[in-house]
Amino acid sequence: MTTHDIAVIPGDGIGLEVTPAALEVVRAAGRRHGFTCQFTEYDWSCERYKREGAMMPPDGIDRLRGHDAVFLGAVGAPGVPDHVSLWGLLIPIRRAFRQYVNLRPVRLFDGIESPVNAAIDLVVVRENTEGEYSEIGGRMNRGFPGEMAVQESVFTRAGVTRVLDYAFDLASRRRGYLTSATKSNGIVHTMPFWDELVEERAREHPGVRWDQEHIDALCAKLVLGPSRFDVIVGSNLFGDILSDLAAAVAGSIGIAPSANLNPEREFPSMFEPVHGSAPDIAGRGVANPIGAIWSAAMMLEHLGHPAAADEIVAAIAAVLAKGDVRTRDLGGTAGTDDFTRAVLTLITEGRTEG
Ligand code: NAD
Ligand code: IPM
Ligand code: MN
Repeated sequence: MTTHDIAVIPGDGIGLEVTPAALEVVRAAGRRHGFTCQFTEYDWSCERYKREGAMMPPDGIDRLRGHDAVFLGAVGAPGVPDHVSLWGLLIPIRRAFRQYVNLRPVRLFDGIESPVNAAIDLVVVRENTEGEYSEIGGRMNRGFPGEMAVQESVFTRAGVTRVLDYAFDLASRRRGYLTSATKSNGIVHTMPFWDELVEERAREHPGVRWDQEHIDALCAKLVLGPSRFDVIVGSNLFGDILSDLAAAVAGSIGIAPSANLNPEREFPSMFEPVHGSAPDIAGRGVANPIGAIWSAAMMLEHLGHPAAADEIVAAIAAVLAKGDVRTRDLGGTAGTDDFTRAVLTLITEGRTEG
């Protein structure tokens, strides 16, 4: 039997609640599809930071390196500045393992009330290792009238080209339409460069229709008419913002999954819900586990189990379509465990076709 060796970092807040739910679903899918997963749990978190002064140990990246994949819950807690917790754990993993594609599918499931009344089936492809997220810059004149902060963006030809090629390829396997998020009317160096590279890569993918939209207008169009979008490619920051927006338009940010991919498979890829640690609801057992469970399905697909992945997504869809078990963010009263149990029942009984 195939065994996969998975590093698990539950992290903080609702990460500690949705991660066990996702792992339970992976175990059930494995029993039906003939594989097992061996989970190695790492307690790297804000709690660890408060105890030991670091989010992860100095050799943390090396300890993850040998695993087949990393599953992460969420990072961030009151009392630790967010840039300290995220740059101490999540962002270094993405960068060290060259996870330059952050894949974030968005679907409107039957049975979910969306703020917009339209079919939604799109994927945000977010550049994940450079762009606006950089360590270059500084704070100056602290406490003086001339106080300022400078934050440099880094867009490399190689870094932009590889994520664009991934997005064009993905579009060619879907409905053949790509939208590039830009802001070349206001950001005069990096965004015109991005646009040029999009045009260049488009010539290499003649089968894909493409468009570009300024990020502000794109946000409005995503709300007013999300159905026309297929693949949306954006820089690190634009992709981040678009993925929460699109997830909310499709019902709740609690649903959205993500795969931080190293497409070359030189290093492990990482799978995590799009949402954060949600301190406002943490510890109450009410978090929506769909984002985590769907992320686990993406992990299984990456590990070579597409049928198991499809079955998990079909089980989520079937529970939502039936409508009696829904978490509060979707207007229901169910808890994390109730929803997870409903999904587990369908998978275990092989009733995922609804
Ligand atoms: P958030 O995603 O944690 O929460 C935003 C809102 O959505 C909250 O009202 C929350 O209750 C709700 N929500 C999120 N996930 C939900 C779920 N599964 N079910 C039901 N409701 C859900 O974003 P935030 O408030 O900006 O950030 C909180 C902390 O999480 C911060 O420390 C932030 O830096 C961190 N964060 C971490 C990640 C990550 O680890 N990948 C992602 C985003 C934010
Ligand atoms: C995400 C998160 C992170 C990001 C934060 C917490 C650094 O918002 O994964 O979407 O911006 O990448
Ligand atoms: Mn985000």
